[in-house]
Formats: sequence, structure tokens, C-alpha cells
Amino acid sequence: MRHLLLLSALCVAVSAQAAPFDKGDAGKGKAIVDKQCASCHISLFKGDGSGVYTRADHKVKTAAQLAARISGCNANTGAGLFPEDETDVGAYLNKTYYKFK
Ligand code: HEC
Repeated sequence: MRHLLLLSALCVAVSAQAAPFDKGDAGKGKAIVDKQCASCHISLFKGDGSGVYTRADHKVKTAAQLAARISGCNANTGAGLFPEDETDVGAYLNKTYYKFK
């Protein structure tokens, strides 16, 4: 019973919050990542570069950290993404790799 109560409390908390990056367009995000982000990740992490997101000790653990990391990489690499581009990238990376709710 206690577990059931806890579970329903959690569900309410989750559904009250909008899904992260739900305004982003994952298709546009993928195009941006393929063009502006992937080559560096590929040279460092091999394969298709997605190991940077899926390695056992990867750094991003929450949707907020993902948003911050995208902004940081954008600024550090001079990728020149607008805020809505960052949201698209977030939508793509979250949908494909991180799956934060
Ligand atoms: C010049 C190389 C380079 C470019 C360009 C680059 N990154 Fe990265 N990125 C890295 C490195 C290196 C790491 C790993 C850093 C670490 O372990 O803390 C990383 C890590 C990340 C992570 C965190 C992965 C995790 O969970 O640990 C994300 C998200 C990310 N990059 C997104 C992007 C996006 C989006 C772009 C394009 C706008 C981009 N990166 C462009 C080098 C790059």
C-alpha cells in the first residue's frame, strides 16, 4: 500500500511537468548534430560517435544537465546554434539516447 501511494505521488509529480525538450524537433536536431557535432565525437569516441552519450561514465544525468551541456558545447565550439536549435538538438539526443522523462 505504501508503495502504491508513493508511486501515484510520483506519477502526479511527473505528469505535472512538461516532457523535456517537447518543443524541439528531433529531425532538425539530428541534422544539426550530424553536421556540427558528430565529427569531433567520432574522432574521439570512434564508431558513429554516439559512445560519448552512452559510455558507462557519461556525464549527463538529467534533462537540465543535457540542456546545459548542449549550450556549453555550442559556446565552446562556436557552432553558432540559436536557442531553438539547442532545443531541437536536445529533443534528438533525449529521444535517441538519454530518454529523460
Ligand atoms: C571539438 C570537439 C567537440 C565538438 C565539436 C562537440 N563536442 Fe560534445 N563533447 C566533446 C567531448 C570531448 C566530450 C566529453 C567531455 C567529457 O567527458 O566531459 C563531449 C561531450 C558531449 C556531451 C555529454 C555526453 C555525456 O553524457 O557525457 C554532449 C551532450 C555533447 N558533447 C553534445 C555536443 C553537441 C550538441 C555538439 C554540437 C553543437 C558537440 N557536442 C560538439 C567534444 C566535442
